[in-house]
Amino acid sequence: AAKARTAYVCAECGADYSKWQGQCGECGAWNTLSEFVVEPAAKAGAGASVAASRRAGWAGRADAPAVTALKDVRHSEEARVGTGIGEFDRVLGGGLVPGAVVLVGGDPGIGKSTLLLQAIVRMAQSMPGLYVTGEESLSQVAGRGARLGLPLDGVHALAETCVERILEHAASMRPALIVADSVQTLWTEQLGAAPGSVSQVRESAARLVRYAKETGTSVFLVGHVTKEGGIAGPRVLEHMVDAVLYFEGESGSRFRVLRAFKNRFGAVNELGVFAMSDKGLREVPNPSAIFLSGSRGPQPGSCVMVTREGTRPLLVEVQALVDSSPLSNPRRVAVGMEQNRLAMLLAVLHRHGGIAVGDQDVFVNVVGGIRVQETAADLPVLLAVLSSLRDQPLAEQTVAFGEVGLSGEIRPVPNGEDRLKEAATHGFKRAIVPKGNTPRGGRIGEMEVIAVERLSEALDAA
Ligand code: TYD
Ligand code: MG
Repeated sequence: AAKARTAYVCAECGADYSKWQGQCGECGAWNTLSEFVVEPAAKAGAGASVAASRRAGWAGRADAPAVTALKDVRHSEEARVGTGIGEFDRVLGGGLVPGAVVLVGGDPGIGKSTLLLQAIVRMAQSMPGLYVTGEESLSQVAGRGARLGLPLDGVHALAETCVERILEHAASMRPALIVADSVQTLWTEQLGAAPGSVSQVRESAARLVRYAKETGTSVFLVGHVTKEGGIAGPRVLEHMVDAVLYFEGESGSRFRVLRAFKNRFGAVNELGVFAMSDKGLREVPNPSAIFLSGSRGPQPGSCVMVTREGTRPLLVEVQALVDSSPLSNPRRVAVGMEQNRLAMLLAVLHRHGGIAVGDQDVFVNVVGGIRVQETAADLPVLLAVLSSLRDQPLAEQTVAFGEVGLSGEIRPVPNGEDRLKEAATHGFKRAIVPKGNTPRGGRIGEMEVIAVERLSEALDAA
């Protein structure tokens, strides 16, 4: 039989080479090549590339390549299995699809192991589960389960990091669900590289993915986010799995947010919200106002926005601190939003709002450890900055949302009316919004809606 060979694969773009080289010839990235095992492809011929063998893994049998009218292809609405945790199901797109591989990433200590232990225990009633731990001992896992008061009878656990041995156990036990905690601890005998290296993590994950696809077993891979923000090296795992979920939150806050970053079986950017407790993660099915700081009365440098991450509107507070800088190159620090976006917004504020912060440090923080990715945060961020700069709070009970364009225009955002209704429900009295989001009748219940087209109008209104 043909032997497996090794190839060198670029972690950025996936190009493969037979020899190691310092720079990837495809994408030009440096030091991104790492060793990777290429299985001898049964039918695909000798020159099978890594990509081809990976594709074969997805497509299943290589011997049935018949062309078929798509409408005649038999398919079933994927049967989904609930995790028993509504917010988790929401982020998965309505439950776990059998055979799906889901990567759950997040900072160490954020609660990944807790969440997955809770889920596997609940799911054990309908699908036998195997919890593989490479980080903690079995007694630590059992101890956590007992502390959380979980009924542990249906779940089997295994303390093992070698993928070949994990798959041997899986083959004899035949679980319907495997949790691998964490993918960074896994290694395969096929590679000489050290456990924890990108190539080991990638190849180990690839083996679990292949096993999942061949057997219909669902797999959760737990991944610690590295300092660069990627899981185990730049984006290597994201392409292989069906869904990537990130678990986020502030260490000081008890709220945790699970976000779908990629999902073949559901919407992306869907959010699930949880609260930590001594009995584990509890879902927060109605999270709309938990990301307000709760400070009484209006404060300078604060603006409440209505974001619509996923399918629910959320009220979120943005805080800004603007302070004269001792540095020749003042700081721009954004927590919970993109740094570059902040720099751009400050440039627009200068150019089209006539307000210069070039000699000021600017810090922006989104309360509660949530990350806001949509552009609807632009206007509230600038209003918070202005409020801090002037040391004057915005009028009481004011919310805002809207995208700010480079020429100082305020652009409408999707689902404006939904957002306004949510704010009105929580007692807000005034909303500064893009003209394109004006509701019919010009107001929502008791709430006055101030529609603006230009940044300058918005600053005047504030
Ligand atoms: P853990 O699940 O181990 O985090 P991760 O796997 O992401 O590194 O959780 C970290 C600690 O927090 C752990 O000691 C358990 C504790 N914890 C609770 O007490 N309650 C909770 O709801 C959660 C999520 C964690
Ligand atoms: Mg853990």
